[in-house]
Amino acid sequence: ITSSFNSVCCIGAGYVGGPTMAMIALKCPHIEVTVVDLNQQRIDAWNSDNLPIYEPGLDEVVKACRGKNLFFSTDCEAAIRAAQCIFVSVNTPTKKTGLGKGKAADLTYWESAARNIAAWSTSDKIIVEKSTVPVRTAEAIEKVLLRNCPQEGVHFDILSNPEFLAEGTAIDDLTMPDRVLIGGKIENDRGTAACAALCEVYANWVPKERILTANLWSAELSKLTANAMLAQRISSINAISALCECTGADVSQVSFAIGKDSRIGPKFLNASVGFGGSCFQKDILNLAYICECHGLQEVADYWYSVVGMNDYQKTRFVRRVVSAMFNTIRNKKIAMLGFAFKKDTGDTRETPAIDVAHGMIEDGAKIALFDPQVPEEQVRMDMGEEAMKSITCYSKPTEALKDAHAVTIMTEWDEFKTYDWRAIYEVMHKPAFVFDGRNILDHAHLSEIGFIVYALGKPIDPFLKSAEGA
Ligand code: UDX
Ligand code: UDX
Ligand code: ADP
Repeated sequence: ITSSFNSVCCIGAGYVGGPTMAMIALKCPHIEVTVVDLNQQRIDAWNSDNLPIYEPGLDEVVKACRGKNLFFSTDCEAAIRAAQCIFVSVNTPTKKTGLGKGKAADLTYWESAARNIAAWSTSDKIIVEKSTVPVRTAEAIEKVLLRNCPQEGVHFDILSNPEFLAEGTAIDDLTMPDRVLIGGKIENDRGTAACAALCEVYANWVPKERILTANLWSAELSKLTANAMLAQRISSINAISALCECTGADVSQVSFAIGKDSRIGPKFLNASVGFGGSCFQKDILNLAYICECHGLQEVADYWYSVVGMNDYQKTRFVRRVVSAMFNTIRNKKIAMLGFAFKKDTGDTRETPAIDVAHGMIEDGAKIALFDPQVPEEQVRMDMGEEAMKSITCYSKPTEALKDAHAVTIMTEWDEFKTYDWRAIYEVMHKPAFVFDGRNILDHAHLSEIGFIVYALGKPIDPFLKSAEGA
């Protein structure tokens, strides 16, 4: 077995594969890295000045290595043959139909990648699971590889090396990861050697004490668990935000106070209109489904409740908007600031704005949308033609806000804080409402101007209370 690599390939040039491989190429000039994808357009974009994904700092990293030791190609066969180590970073969406639909991960792309590897390999390979997969996927993949490889004597060693980067901070996360996790069959020599070879790659820039090894199943399960726990923190603080509104407690003060406990820690305690993004919901549903398959219904239900709380938070937000505005938002112009699932990204996958917009449209609202990064075509794809009859997308925030009855903040974009809220107040209908779904604005200042302010988990404005007859 190879003890160190000079040739690596990655199948799948998406949000995970692209940035991760670019970082390996940057930090390991002695390793030739080839990223392949079936999608010609995507590969062309990686080879152009206009990369297919927006990540701060990514352009510089790609420019520094591309054409030297970093290559993007659609020739999967050649790349697989040449590589000693193959990362698999294809998409694993939630199944839309069949057994486990709406919960289980769809491994179609993974299996087809494995079949290609088996068919084209003529030498030993280390196969690295990079995309998030259900626990024990490695076992299934190994079967596919072993049964389909026509070449005698070719060995495959499977490792799990889940990626923990977050969108918008991918390059920082890759440069200085909290940890790198490598799972393998450490109970035998081949597995240990494969782990060591991959550790050596990361050791080119990651401090040794941050490179962890584990057995395969622990590594696979750690990825799902990390995302489930992060999402759980958000649902927990969001649950408390509802109670804060009833009691006069302030969720920011509660978050701050509990975050000082070193056992709890200060991060990921911002109450919000709900978590979004391509991972959290998908991974929790996948985790819960695996529990169900093992007969652990109580465990599954515990994790489903995290998603349930997230849905409740979105519904609760819409209900507040409607009830505060005298139980009717029919034909009222409601400005929606932000559509992306978080700031500094144009990504809208599972963004809470989708559900909130649908909820308000159901009550007859006319939505005036502005997001600094999300183009109208994306909103159209996410919302559908029917809903678009009630949505107008603006390229300037001032146009979205003019003559609006209310403003809803859906994404925590920094620029929203810098707007001239006094001038905005002047051009809105009165009473002018602000519903801050991210708690980023200066609420005292807004109230002083004359806005009726609703902020998540904050004492309710007396005006709102009386409007609701509470
Ligand atoms: C707790 C809080 O820690 C403390 O801040 C508060 O003021 C009172 O309640 P205590 O009940 O004394 O303190 O014990 P703690 O160490 O928190 O443990 C509580 C229970 O959780 C114990 O049964 C402990 O065994 C269990 N526990 C703790 C676990 O099962 N796993 C853990 O990782 C930690
Ligand atoms: C997440 C994990 O953080 C990352 O480790 C994993 O590899 C992929 O999934 P990502 O989805 O890019 O990353 O974004 P993240 O920053 O985790 O935010 C997810 C959602 O939670 C966003 O909608 C965000 O607005 C929300 N959030 C986050 C809160 O509502 N409150 C918080 O305190 C933190
Ligand atoms: P992630 O967020 O996990 O990186 P993406 O959807 O952004 O997921 O990227 C996954 C990529 O994998 C897509 O560009 C897709 O075209 C590619 N892909 C899927 N199956 C294969 C395959 N068998 N061979 C090569 N590329 C594949």
